Amino acid sequence: MATGKYLVSIAACAECHTQAEKGQIIAEKMFSGGREFALPGGLLISPNITPDKETGMGNLHKEAFIARFKAYADSSYKPYKVGPTDFQTIMPWTMYGGMSEHDLGAIYTYLMSLKPIKNAVPEKFKPNAKTVAIR
Ligand code: HEC
Repeated sequence: MATGKYLVSIAACAECHTQAEKGQIIAEKMFSGGREFALPGGLLISPNITPDKETGMGNLHKEAFIARFKAYADSSYKPYKVGPTDFQTIMPWTMYGGMSEHDLGAIYTYLMSLKPIKNAVPEKFKPNAKTVAIR
């Protein structure tokens, strides 16, 4: 558990996965997503990664969580060229994909130990929504 907490803090997951007010992340909303990023390709919203079953990753299995990261670890993965209207992500997938399954598992276990927070994000940004970023 300590490893997961440590990894989550150095990887700055909370920075993007928590709503902020005047540049400060809101502690009560930690990891519940909903942070908006206006990008040229459109608005990107970070998903809720708390264990809430309805709006977060409560129904996401550990294997699926790890696989989501590992999909990008494969060195044959080539980022596709995004057009002006294509969906783009800022989630640093390729960087995290290099983490070991053990570390990713520790992150998952840590996140799942947190208090579930209900915060609905649009369907396409829900964890493991297949429309997001996997191509
Ligand atoms: C620079 C901002 C940023 C950082 C840092 C970041 N994320 Fe994300 N993350 C996003 C955005 C935006 C999305 C939604 C778009 C996407 O899925 O690519 C996302 C998506 C996700 C998803 C949903 C994947 C799915 O199945 O659709 C998970 C799980 C996740 N992040 C976990 C993490 C964890 C764990 C960390 C720390 C190790 C982290 N993120 C760090 C911005 C970030």
